[in-house]
Amino acid sequence: MFEGKTAIVTGGARGIGAATAELLASGGARVVLSDVDADAARATAASIDGEVTVHAGDLTRDGEPEALVATAIDAFGRLDVVVNNAGYTRDAPLHKLDDDAFQAMLDIHTVVPFRVLRAAAPHLREPAKRERAEGREVMRKVVNVSSGAGTMGNAGQANYAAAKAGVVGLTKTLAKEWGRFSVNVNAVAFGLIETRLSAAIPEQARAGLASAVSLGRPGTVQEAASAIGFLCSPWSDYVTGQVLNVNGGIQFGMAA
Ligand SMILES: NC(=O)c1ccc[n+]([C@@H]2O[C@H](COP(=O)([O-])OP(=O)(O)OC[C@H]3O[C@@H](n4cnc5c(N)ncnc54)[C@H](O)[C@@H]3O)[C@@H](O)[C@H]2O)c1
Repeated sequence: MFEGKTAIVTGGARGIGAATAELLASGGARVVLSDVDADAARATAASIDGEVTVHAGDLTRDGEPEALVATAIDAFGRLDVVVNNAGYTRDAPLHKLDDDAFQAMLDIHTVVPFRVLRAAAPHLREPAKRERAEGREVMRKVVNVSSGAGTMGNAGQANYAAAKAGVVGLTKTLAKEWGRFSVNVNAVAFGLIETRLSAAIPEQARAGLASAVSLGRPGTVQEAASAIGFLCSPWSDYVTGQVLNVNGGIQFGMAA
């Protein structure tokens, strides 16, 4: 499915990112696995059967998104897929949110994807111009990870929700800008997926969320990665500018 493709997966050391890196590598992609946690990133890369290079670094630091893209180009000479997945939460009700907690969420969930994609732009746009001149169309893929918090809101997550809504605007705009370069740009809005991140949700809130899932359980990281994989694959070549809700059928609003 991904033979000959190079993919960047941010936040690939664990959780949804690790499962995505594994899925892409198992389909033949060469993967650049990016994470702030260098040891975990190396351990995950070593556990994956396939061609995986690690880029360790905090993507919110100046120059790091550009360095990540340079790692991919230096290692593999091309770029076909970008999965913006890295993230974390800093929850509090709005009246208790300080500026730093709000800004931090914008930085990791909205500004980092923007900077990674700006750095990737020449490597996604220029080949497309050449291919078009040769009468060929080669699809490239961007998948940004959003959340039900961003599409429906979630009490206690005004900072995270605003940032995850921001990445939806980024996704839809870039789909319009890069469609002519044959780049599919989509987002995935996850509900409750079993990871370190969701394990930090207080038990009562977690149980409330889980009880609203039509399928009656949280999703696995493999199920989450499958949705990302679909949007990285040729099966989604005519899908762009969309937000795919992957939440087991959440039964409460505000409607996505
Ligand atoms: N798990 C869920 O229920 C859920 C629901 C909706 C959305 N999401 C989103 O899915 C994505 C993946 O989350 P997850 O649940 O797998 O969490 P996770 O904590 O298991 O993995 C996130 C990874 O991102 C990395 N990371 C965090 N900040 C970084 C930075 N500054 N630079 C580089 N790497 C960084 C972490 O080190 C970690 O390895 C996140 O964007 C999250 O907001 C998760």
